Amino acid sequence: MKKVITYGTFDLFHEGHRRLLERAKALGDYLIVGVTTEQYDIQRGKMNVVDSLMRRIDNVRSCGYADEIIVEDHESQKIGDVQKFNIDIFVVGSDWRGTFDYLNEYCEVVYLERTKDISSTELRIERNRSIRLGIVGSGRIAERTMAEVKFVSGISVTSVFNPRLSSAEAFANRFELAKAFDQYEAFLDDIDGVYIASPHETHYEYARQALLAGKHVLCEKPMVLRENEARELYEMAQQTGLVLMEAIKTAYAPSFLNLLAIAKSGRIGKIYDVEATFTKLIPSDPAAREYLPFVGGSFTELASYNLLPILKLLGTKYSDLRFDSFKDNNGVDIYTKAYFRFEDAIATVKTGIGVKSEGQLLVSGTKGYIQVKSPWWLTKTFEVCYENLDNNESFSAPFPGYGIRFELADFVRNINEPARRNYKLTAEESITMAKVMEQFLQNRIGES
Ligand code: CTP
Repeated sequence: MKKVITYGTFDLFHEGHRRLLERAKALGDYLIVGVTTEQYDIQRGKMNVVDSLMRRIDNVRSCGYADEIIVEDHESQKIGDVQKFNIDIFVVGSDWRGTFDYLNEYCEVVYLERTKDISSTELRIERNRSIRLGIVGSGRIAERTMAEVKFVSGISVTSVFNPRLSSAEAFANRFELAKAFDQYEAFLDDIDGVYIASPHETHYEYARQALLAGKHVLCEKPMVLRENEARELYEMAQQTGLVLMEAIKTAYAPSFLNLLAIAKSGRIGKIYDVEATFTKLIPSDPAAREYLPFVGGSFTELASYNLLPILKLLGTKYSDLRFDSFKDNNGVDIYTKAYFRFEDAIATVKTGIGVKSEGQLLVSGTKGYIQVKSPWWLTKTFEVCYENLDNNESFSAPFPGYGIRFELADFVRNINEPARRNYKLTAEESITMAKVMEQFLQNRIGES
């Protein structure tokens, strides 16, 4: 029996895919088709795949040529598959000519002429007009967003808003944006969505007005500092069919998603403890955003990251929450430790802008633990460790640039595919983060 194998994403299944599979099958008796995972596609730069893995597999299956479908998760898998399945012929479209010649050592490699004038990329472009994004604020995060947005197709930054027109104009000039605004309503007029990257306390009003104007919202963390504000915004988004996402970049990064999958798979047993630390020394300056009375401080500035693995792994229903802080003369916390109690687990958050510590994430379970070393929030590599050190495993995935491209890609996907929205950070988790921030601020006011 002659066995043939081919691989692809098979997004928005089209005639080119069908014809390739038809010809691949005709080359032998048994056809195996490898369909790429979402994570693998992201890793190799395909950020905007529309169909889920399940749907892409279903489409390959229903075209009727595949005798077996497997999942492709990494580049080096091909050699192993060819050997494991005793493959005689490896087939791929002519756009890949030369790339897979290295497999000639193991089987015959055939490049089939690609069907002209059709591709998933073109179909995605036809389906989706590019989203016009307006940036609120023109500081450091706005700058980073400009650097990252070029890596995501289907979206471009068209304008910037800053209540200080001169700042907006300087930003627009620097990044060659068509428009700069100091009037929010006018700014909202000819965009499809906003990226809110202004100081914390302004987020709520900017997000609310954008949603009222029918615009999608991607909002920097902490999105808001009160539970009822978060709830209201998510309800508005739900009712109007708009996308609202809190921009915590780690939540969308491949390696962190991998970590969650491994932690939840039971590999380290039942999870009893999550400890997450983020400290960043910022010189004390009453004029600096991080030292503003009421909204400044280490917890509001940094805890969103630390809350992420806790809520993801232990859920949003904590039974007790306590804080210990050291404050400066203005009552702003320079170091905070938050202790969570869940029904059968505990968690700790440590944040510091005036105290330095190891910025690690540690997830402890009955069979082992997962450790991500500093800076854990830019998760690239993590270790799964066991009683027997010989069994320890290390996992990694890229975290390119500032990592903002992943949340932007999800934002685009969620806007373009309303029926298949997938929130890697859920409304409930984001609302719980606001609730924790509110509890923290109330506690701080109560103490001072
Ligand atoms: N293919 C083909 N003819 C086309 C499009 C794709 O023969 N018009 C082949 C590819 O060469 C590959 C397989 O179909 O062997 C799966 O390709 P995939 O990357 O999923 O399809 P594309 O349409 O090329 O996707 P994209 O535009 O996202 O790169």
